[in-house]
Amino acid sequence: MSEVSSLKREVFTSKFGVIAAAAGSAVGLGNIWKFPYITGVYGGAAFLFVYLGFIVLIGLPVMLSEFIIGRKSGSNIFGAYKSLAPNSPWKLVGLLGLAAAGMILAFYGVVAGWSIDYVVKACSGSFMEKNPTELSLMFTNFIQAPFTPVIYQLLFMILTMAIVGVGIKDGIEKYAKILMPLLVVLIIVLDIRAITLDGAGEGLKFLFHPDFSKLTAEGVLSALGHAFFSLSLGMGTLVTYGAYIDSSNNLAKTAVQVTVADTLIAILAGVAIFPAVFAFGIEPSSGPGLVFITLPNVFQQMPGGFFFSILFFLLLTVAALTSSISILEVVVAYFKEELKIQRKLATIISTVIISIIGIFCSLSMGILEEHKLFDLNFFDLLDWVSANMLLPLGGLFISLFVGWYLGKDKVKEELSKGSVVVKYLLSVFIFLIRYVAPVAIAIVFLNGIGIINFA
Ligand code: PHE
Repeated sequence: MSEVSSLKREVFTSKFGVIAAAAGSAVGLGNIWKFPYITGVYGGAAFLFVYLGFIVLIGLPVMLSEFIIGRKSGSNIFGAYKSLAPNSPWKLVGLLGLAAAGMILAFYGVVAGWSIDYVVKACSGSFMEKNPTELSLMFTNFIQAPFTPVIYQLLFMILTMAIVGVGIKDGIEKYAKILMPLLVVLIIVLDIRAITLDGAGEGLKFLFHPDFSKLTAEGVLSALGHAFFSLSLGMGTLVTYGAYIDSSNNLAKTAVQVTVADTLIAILAGVAIFPAVFAFGIEPSSGPGLVFITLPNVFQQMPGGFFFSILFFLLLTVAALTSSISILEVVVAYFKEELKIQRKLATIISTVIISIIGIFCSLSMGILEEHKLFDLNFFDLLDWVSANMLLPLGGLFISLFVGWYLGKDKVKEELSKGSVVVKYLLSVFIFLIRYVAPVAIAIVFLNGIGIINFA
């Protein structure tokens, strides 16, 4: 028992710390890099509205479920299932989460590394006086080069390691409390710049004026998949953070606040990007290159573009960092609690393993491009397997675990800590987590692995 309590000593020390850390996890490349481009690809506002529906009906209940599992067990993702469902196969779900964490951080670190490189490029004015073809070439040449992207990826992983290695209170919580407000300020500055551009209205209309005829089945499914990715759900990140939340915290309220923060930042990112894209007559649906190719083009035409381009890529890097620490913590908590390895060593070991996988991801853009599995290079394979398979599957198990295995009474008991449970809200939550979430997730999952095909 004494050993267990000494392992559980680490907790977030304030309510703001909990929100900053959890929102820091949720707000990341998913909001600023991925959300705008998939919204562009799937037709704008109609996609946004479906996404919002999924956030409320599925994302929020699954997030609350992860917090419940985490705080109730006080454990890492593997230990949580082990202690709440002893002698059962549920702990395998924990292993699934660990695998997802390793894979996601491997490719996440690569994109975050690009983002650091673009801060440097922005500072040295590399975007200026280049035409769109040159900017596109600059990006592809960069990601295909063997060394530079790897160096930046490793730099990013070292930053992540340095924060996680220090622990919860003086590492993750402390940096989240500094970096999240910085991020909010950066994005608001960029928003003001974007909406004061001539012709910004078109971009805002694209984002907020829905045309449901543009919505495809594939778009609907991507909206659900992205809701998971963006809220950091399905692999135990928020189970792990939940274990560091003390019993005076109102979990339902925290889940609502984090969900609102993540969604607002995604919308603010859209508001920063689409008006600028439209004002300069650029295609909104230009895919993953939107941020790295299209935006530099926008910046170089925009008054004050030099300054705003630095701010933007700084924002992207900061957002990525507060997410990557949450992913690394999933693995570190497991090493620490299950394998009884000291935090610092656990952090180093997991960073080294994940960075090595990440190097292969980075190289798969260039010199290892030819090596493909299911027609995907290594980077795309990890992205595909984790986002289309592991996160939805993890989310499905989480909702089944809380809705059916733990059940209403245990859920109520956990939610009563730090708050008064409103009866009808509890019933709504149980209904969503028992029926709505599993069915919807199952549909996404089956589509993701191609068993059923909507598009
Ligand atoms: N939510 C993060 C983002 O939007 C990514 C993430 C996914 C983090 C899964 C943790 C777990 O960038």
